[in-house]
Amino acid sequence: MRRALILAALLASPALAQETASREAGLAAWESIAAAASHPRCANCHVEGDQPMWSGPSYGTTRPHGMNVYAGESRIGAEYLSCGTCHAYREEGANDAPHMAPQVADTWILPPPEMAWFGRSSAEICVQLSNPDLNGGRDVEALAEHVQESAFVNWGFNPGGGREPAPGSPEEMAELLRQWGAAGMPCPG
Ligand code: HEC
Ligand code: HEC
Repeated sequence: MRRALILAALLASPALAQETASREAGLAAWESIAAAASHPRCANCHVEGDQPMWSGPSYGTTRPHGMNVYAGESRIGAEYLSCGTCHAYREEGANDAPHMAPQVADTWILPPPEMAWFGRSSAEICVQLSNPDLNGGRDVEALAEHVQESAFVNWGFNPGGGREPAPGSPEEMAELLRQWGAAGMPCPG
């Protein structure tokens, strides 16, 4: 009995150590993911409410989008003034003039409210991003593909116009997501 217990403990501990190591690596990857997600270039769009945000050093104070811009239920301003009036579709070309409306090769629109990150903690964003009911039905591979392909994400890491870029790159974020996924998508707390 005693021997069996010792044997069980010996067998269990390396596995436990490995699990802890992988959880720690996953949490470390998560913290880098959260640093990008909560950056103003991403969080200004990932809002729960009806108004995009203007925040980050290039905006001075944090405030809702100026000029009475509301996204509406459509999330694209269809009920008011469509985002594309100013954020026109643009195949290529740098957004190099400060304070111009950013323009990318996609239809500028807010994400659905359940994908909100603005003002949220790393742990809250982690719960959102790891839940397919809240993330557009994505597994971790689909999340990684999204960040590599999305024109919005690519803009956020390389915004131009004197705006501070989100830390990292689409490729790095995709790799971090895959590491986090391999560790079982651990969340802080
Ligand atoms: C009347 C023109 C206009 C309309 C309409 C408009 N925007 Fe903007 N938007 C701007 C301008 C100009 C800026 C940049 C302001 C600056 O840098 O000082 C901006 C900036 C932003 C930013 C901040 C980007 C960053 O620097 O992080 C977001 C997010 C945004 N707009 C979302 C939207 C959404 C979503 C809609 C539609 C619901 C919309 N905008 C409609 C003109 C507009
Ligand atoms: C112009 C607004 C806009 C900006 C800026 C933006 N996103 Fe998004 N994001 C969206 C929209 C819209 C969706 C929903 C698309 C879908 O589900 O197909 C989305 C969805 C996502 C998703 C997948 C679903 C989820 O749970 O969030 C990820 C991951 C993501 N964005 C990452 C980023 C990152 C990282 C940045 C900054 C580097 C960023 N986004 C900047 C509009 C934006």
